[in-house]
Amino acid sequence: MNKPVIIALSKGRILDDTLPLLADVGIEPTEDLEKSRKLIFDTNHDHIKFIKVRATDVPTYVEYGAADMGIAGKDVLMEFGAQEIIEVLDLEIAKCRLMTAGFPDRKEPLSRRLKVATKFVGVTKQYFAQQGRQVDVIKLYGAQELAPIMGLADCIVDIVDTGNTLRANGLEPMAHIADVSSRLVVNRAALKLKQKTLQPIIDQMAEAVKQRK
Ligand code: ADP
Ligand code: PRP
Ligand code: MG
Repeated sequence: MNKPVIIALSKGRILDDTLPLLADVGIEPTEDLEKSRKLIFDTNHDHIKFIKVRATDVPTYVEYGAADMGIAGKDVLMEFGAQEIIEVLDLEIAKCRLMTAGFPDRKEPLSRRLKVATKFVGVTKQYFAQQGRQVDVIKLYGAQELAPIMGLADCIVDIVDTGNTLRANGLEPMAHIADVSSRLVVNRAALKLKQKTLQPIIDQMAEAVKQRK
């Protein structure tokens, strides 16, 4: 039998929006991905399997061809900076913005570099470099909003959706860096070698996204 098509799904908040979209194109797991401790899942198609990984690990699986396809946020894809990943479709789910944020009316430091806390180190360096600014980037893995409050950083680069997290912590959104939504991505070699199986999935998902508008 041919090797199955592996689709890498981000666990966490994208999964809630991803599963209905896959169900729309007739691909459904045979058990509950949220409840199970398993990491590989059969679907109602013998030749399609899901793997459930951290959102930030989806590009890694697809880059190295360990997964043929994946669903990941644009923020994560920008930060990963892939070579072997082709972004084939904007799924228009998990929409949010990547922004700088900080305390309103806070003066910028004059005698030292601006300190920016973020999960998105590469994107942040690139963004400030484009502004002609050298900054010190401090890597965090979550709850970035805490950093300016605790004096760890002057500002943050993070995801903003409703703005509730910023407001609840006395911060304000400042500069817009990028619009974010989840994307269907495919490994470059897999797209060539498994085109017969992958292309129909891509086309059906494109149609499902269109139907939702
Ligand atoms: P993590 O644990 O890595 O933060 P999440 O499940 O919180 O994982 O986020 C996964 C993806 O969902 C992000 O890469 C981003 O694209 C999107 N996302 C994150 N936060 C929000 C939000 N508040 N609203 C909408 N989409 C979001
Ligand atoms: C995400 C993001 C912001 C928040 C933005 O955090 O990092 O903190 O959502 O959403 P809002 O504008 O609607 O408040 P998440 O809950 O994923 O926590 P994390 O820091 O663990 O990623
Ligand atoms: Mg998160």
